Amino acid sequence: MSLSRRTFLAMTGSIAAVGAVAPQHAASADQARRLRLTARLSRAHLLEAGQPETAVWAYDGSVPGPTLHLRQGESIEAQLINQLPQPTTIHWHGLRIDNSMDGVAGLTQPAVQPGKTYFYRFAPPDAGTFWYHPHYRTWEQLARGLYGVLIVQEASPPAVDQDLIVGFDDWRIGENGQIDEASFDSMHDISHAGRLGNILTLNGKFSQDFEVLSGQRLRLRLLNAATARVVSVRFADHAPLVIALDGQPVSRPFAPRGNTILLAPAQRADLILDCDGEPGQTSSIEVDVGRETLVAGRLVYGTQRRQRANTLSEFPVLPANPMPTDINPDDASPVDLVMTGGARAPFPSAVYQGENLSIRELVRRHKKAWAFNGVVGFPDKPLAVFANGKTAVIKMVNRTAWPHAMHFHGHHVREIQHSAREPSPHWRDTIFMRPDETVTVAFNAHNPGRWMLHCHMLGHQRGGMSTWYEVG
Ligand code: C2O
Ligand code: CU
Repeated sequence: MSLSRRTFLAMTGSIAAVGAVAPQHAASADQARRLRLTARLSRAHLLEAGQPETAVWAYDGSVPGPTLHLRQGESIEAQLINQLPQPTTIHWHGLRIDNSMDGVAGLTQPAVQPGKTYFYRFAPPDAGTFWYHPHYRTWEQLARGLYGVLIVQEASPPAVDQDLIVGFDDWRIGENGQIDEASFDSMHDISHAGRLGNILTLNGKFSQDFEVLSGQRLRLRLLNAATARVVSVRFADHAPLVIALDGQPVSRPFAPRGNTILLAPAQRADLILDCDGEPGQTSSIEVDVGRETLVAGRLVYGTQRRQRANTLSEFPVLPANPMPTDINPDDASPVDLVMTGGARAPFPSAVYQGENLSIRELVRRHKKAWAFNGVVGFPDKPLAVFANGKTAVIKMVNRTAWPHAMHFHGHHVREIQHSAREPSPHWRDTIFMRPDETVTVAFNAHNPGRWMLHCHMLGHQRGGMSTWYEVG
């Protein structure tokens, strides 16, 4: 299914700022700031002007859900109210918090039943751009609209004129303007590239204009919230610098190759973009989605220039987060994670819930098609147990014909070896892998508990690409 080509832009007249939960004033030290998120049925205007609204599931009724603004180290208590017809949870994607707050149904907590509520209590240790979404039937609940951006503000954020969210999502919408529900469990999608959509939204809109002024400096917080689609994003006529990836600052800001930022599902990038265009100019935000390039929004320059003299520093470098980054790969024995299955290279058989089953049986009885080390997720035993404070090394081998987005809960990881290029020096919570690539990652296993490790192309996760590791 291809995305509809959009040759003109809907005039949304929207303002650039995304709906936000205003930070309240500092709570006293012993009292956590309270947040509340209600997961419920709602409607969203995802399509072009004149098209119908789409029934969605959404936090507080909006897609994306409210942007949560937290301060680094601040204690919060977030209440989830479940008004959905299904159980749910919230996973705080990328936050290095206590394992019991990680929100994984069946691993770190029981799912929250319809009509019930649940309290999450944590203090985010790292500043950066994160997000939240359910971890129960995620391939369906995220695709129905349940997600939001979570910003943890630095103690002294870099000086910028605007701090903007640029959140991409991809939807599969039927002729009637409604979410194609029949395909949530499509075996074809599960065994191929996942459930790709036919509508791309930016901040929940068919097209979004960001109003800027010539001379302004922007901080852009990019997120790919799609369940399967990989996006490559370009800001026409502009040359942004990457200052953070997956919530962790890069040690030196860099210009991405071709001014293009590739985001696999779940990945984020923080950019600094200097508006060096002329007053009155408009520049498109272009997204490559495979064979097509779409215009997802625009930078629309006002007729004035930025008033104040430009006193912004040359390179805004974010301070590193207090994350243990000392790794000694030579001291660790690498754990293999061999990814197999999917269309074009199916395995003959694999183990599911202790039973060795043929691919035919796995597909027919369980809608499973993928395995890690010959085991179809979600196994009783962890992939590995790592000693607390020690280096963990995982060698991920993609023996499938498909790309994957391998997401680690609880820790950010760094590539130490890559079969196709120099390993990237950046800390990430989601590693994009192409077919036939082998990527070895390492991290300091400092966060005790049971952590998931799965493909964030959620049809693949649903189809078996999920496991967990333990830090003792
Ligand atoms: Cu974004 Cu296991 O999750
Ligand atoms: Cu995958």
